[in-house]
Amino acid sequence: MTDVIKNARAAEETGNPEFSNKIISGKAVSARIRAEVRKEAAGFELKSGRKPALAVIIAGDDPASRIYVRNKKNACEEVGFTSLEFALPADVSEDELLSLVRRLNADANVDGILVQLPLPRGLDEKKIINEISPDKDVDCFHPVNVGKLSIGEPGFLPCTPAGIMELIAATGTSVRGKNCLVIGRSNIVGKPVSALLLAADGTVTTAHSKTVNLKEIARNADILVAAVGRAKMIDASYIKPGAVVIDVGMNRDENGKLCGDCDFDSVYPVCGAITPVPGGVGPMTITMLLKNTLYAAESIFEKNAGR
Ligand code: GUN
Repeated sequence: MTDVIKNARAAEETGNPEFSNKIISGKAVSARIRAEVRKEAAGFELKSGRKPALAVIIAGDDPASRIYVRNKKNACEEVGFTSLEFALPADVSEDELLSLVRRLNADANVDGILVQLPLPRGLDEKKIINEISPDKDVDCFHPVNVGKLSIGEPGFLPCTPAGIMELIAATGTSVRGKNCLVIGRSNIVGKPVSALLLAADGTVTTAHSKTVNLKEIARNADILVAAVGRAKMIDASYIKPGAVVIDVGMNRDENGKLCGDCDFDSVYPVCGAITPVPGGVGPMTITMLLKNTLYAAESIFEKNAGR
């Protein structure tokens, strides 16, 4: 660890745990939100007689997916949710998977359904996601929920993008009127975070691999979200002094060490705020999944009560 990170982390111990010495702590922001979710889940249980419940479907034995699913299960237990896991073999048929989703859609004791991606080859991800009831789509991947997000209707918020908005808020920075650059246009991060920044009145540019003059555009950004998947691609020469930098990258550097899309040591002295990797965006995704599961539980409960 460099001295700069060491010093910043030491300062976190005594100062504002969420934002200190220009470092935005996803761990601390997550801890605050999880405590809120835990409290609200207890309230839900009191009025409904059951805990909010998340069903996670995993097919095959991708090691990274297994770790993600285990972390989701642990997080559910931490906030007092019921967690159901459906582990299917890699050669599960599409029909079997679709019928499991339909069964969970109809199950009054299940609030959220998540199908862990990527699915094994031969399974049509779009078809499976489209089968999830939009009311239980806690990933916010269903076209109905993506559409609602795009036109500003209330509903689920996509997990990583919603987590990014919380991290920006933790710095005390208002998005309104700011130049926001999102580098990356994936359906999971780039496009939906651009939509959320726009909804927060940012002036948003979405850059991608075909963008010309990326550095020039980046140097004009007050808020920069890097979601490219290329180790340490963004250095100080891309950064406007004082900018808020959110690093979504989760890569390995030349020594096999975990790193983001930003070259932290280069960017840190120039920026006004930055998320570390690990410990920045990472912890937020599951936290926002918990929030969405609670939202699903509350919405379904209200709907059933005829409100
Ligand atoms: N695989 C990697 N990230 C995600 C995610 O956010 N949701 C799902 N369902 N699968 C993933």
